[in-house]
Amino acid sequence: MKRIGMLTSGGDCQALNAAMRGVVKSLCNAKEDVEIYGFLNGYKGFIYGDFRMLTGADFSGILTKGGTILGSSRTPFKLMREPDENGLDKVEAMKQNYYKLKLDCIVILGGNGTHKTANLLREEGLNVVTLPKTIDNDLWGTDMTFGFQSAVNIATDAIDCIHTTAASHGRVFIVEVMGHKVGWLTLNAGMAGGADIILIPEIPYDIDKVVKAIEDREKRGSKFTILAVAEGAISKADAKLSKKEYKEKLKNYKYPSVSYEIADEILKRSGKEVRVTVPGHTQRGGSPCPYDRVFASRLGSEAGKLILEGEYGFMVGIKNREIIKVPLEDVAGKLKMVSPDASIVKEAKMLGISFGD
Ligand code: F6P
Repeated sequence: MKRIGMLTSGGDCQALNAAMRGVVKSLCNAKEDVEIYGFLNGYKGFIYGDFRMLTGADFSGILTKGGTILGSSRTPFKLMREPDENGLDKVEAMKQNYYKLKLDCIVILGGNGTHKTANLLREEGLNVVTLPKTIDNDLWGTDMTFGFQSAVNIATDAIDCIHTTAASHGRVFIVEVMGHKVGWLTLNAGMAGGADIILIPEIPYDIDKVVKAIEDREKRGSKFTILAVAEGAISKADAKLSKKEYKEKLKNYKYPSVSYEIADEILKRSGKEVRVTVPGHTQRGGSPCPYDRVFASRLGSEAGKLILEGEYGFMVGIKNREIIKVPLEDVAGKLKMVSPDASIVKEAKMLGISFGD
């Protein structure tokens, strides 16, 4: 008999349900008796003992379903050690719930912040197994996170749609893609959608170079330009500011997001009106693409295997197409960013894509 807690934490993404289904199916098919405690709305449910008892049937028919049947929320890692408004010690509360329910382990699906807390719980003596979710693909220790490919598809669709209207009107368009800290999604959707300019946080841009890239295209006879801009794209000038100075700038920021600032700067310098499209949370929504369904199912079943073997303290990930296990202490607190020297960046540049650098 295995008694398993499960929770999904942080921003949701596609294939969370597929991954949980993978864990449960692999355990049930191993003829292991399982009791599943689904904690609701992320770590909140674990802290306050808000859970639902689930059976194999609850995981049936959810392979293709977006969102998470358990609900999710963000509980920042830096607040985990701070008591809540009633003085409750959150970490102690999670430990008590774990021991009260006599859990063998807790399965946690999440991204970067989630993994920091998962590792903290491991350090506190709980048996933890994690699965890497996020459309940002920025978790260290795995080549891919689930949700990423589905989001690439959606962001690419947005760029594809903009392409036709940009061509009709001979306009400059910005499609703003999610990713505050890393540019994997923008880079991949930008390349897939044939964006002419890709701006990502890891490669600060020079607005004059961006304008030049637009004008150079025009000189070559192209009447429109498409920019894929990450939410967290940053200019070279801003990248030089200290954290404090940058925060100060944001206090008086008059734009809804960086894309609108870039649009304004392009207008000022070239007289060209720029239209901005923000697909936003659509990138995290809807059903998972086939790749993510297969990938999340594989991760889930390997997590089931770890649980059956009593191997805890790992995130299940993928390296060179093989499913692997990575110690949680190696994953927690590290970001997997796009290196400006990565071959994909060089290849994109060889295709004529400008990074504005
Ligand atoms: O971490 C996933 C992500 O979708 C990021 O790409 C994005 O910057 C952020 O979450 C948005 O967070 P929220 O849903 O809390 O607005």
